[in-house]
Amino acid sequence: MGTVTPIDWYDLPRLYDIVFDVGTAQEADFLEAAAARYGRAGGKRALEPACGSGRLVTELARRGWNVRGFDRNEHMLAYAEERLTRESLGATLARGDMARFEVPRPVDLAHCLVSTFKYLLDEDSARSHLACVAEALAPGGIYVLGLHLTTYGRLLDERERWVETRGGVTVTSDMRVGRPNRVTRLEHVRTRLTEVDGRVKHEYESTWDFRTYGPAQMQSLVKSVPALEIAALHDFDYDLEKRSTWSDGRLDKVLILRRR
Ligand SMILES: C[S@@+](CC[C@H](N)C(=O)[O-])C[C@H]1O[C@@H](n2cnc3c(N)ncnc32)[C@H](O)[C@@H]1O
Repeated sequence: MGTVTPIDWYDLPRLYDIVFDVGTAQEADFLEAAAARYGRAGGKRALEPACGSGRLVTELARRGWNVRGFDRNEHMLAYAEERLTRESLGATLARGDMARFEVPRPVDLAHCLVSTFKYLLDEDSARSHLACVAEALAPGGIYVLGLHLTTYGRLLDERERWVETRGGVTVTSDMRVGRPNRVTRLEHVRTRLTEVDGRVKHEYESTWDFRTYGPAQMQSLVKSVPALEIAALHDFDYDLEKRSTWSDGRLDKVLILRRR
């Protein structure tokens, strides 16, 4: 058996990007369509808190958006900068914390997908984040927030596995989410990344906690930030013609929050 290296997987942006970039075009289509339907007509200023490898920053910049993104991980930011430079695209990137931030000019669209919001581990940080987003949005602007909700009664770990190949490198991401703790509102996540490049194989393991949200907890959090209203609910199918509801049994939700 080979060695498994413990690592923060965001220190390996290339591997993260190989796994997640496959969904980028569809997500960007959805963001643009959601902004047109629920948001401010014609506005093209976007903000991505925790922008990671810059896959969506780059895609929106390519589509003519004026994009601002920030992240706390310098490896992710360097990867995003390099990618923008390679494509001769412009966007403003910076180091920053999702829990507390401000922008110099209001934006029309903000977004935070793939459960990134759950890295805010307590209610104060989550509320502060939403208040900062509200402050950053122009009136009528929208925040597209995608996350997996939690079923507190579940008895088993949840598992998700992705396998993607790019440039001859195959990356397998095997994610295991432990049983949620109803009291602490935390669930423990372990991701095993396997990189295979020709005959060379590396294995990495990353662990962290996510904050958990049941449907009522999410709605109550949003309600606590009066500057935002829930304009619509969708899911990770990213189909604007298909609305979701809080009680449809699906845990993957995409909230469209609008600045009043
Ligand atoms: C799942 S990735 C999402 C990246 C990007 N938004 C995307 O859709 O591909 C999560 C990102 O959140 C960042 N992150 C986690 N907590 C953060 C915080 N408190 N402030 C800023 N960035 C944070 C990590 O460094 C990582 O780049």
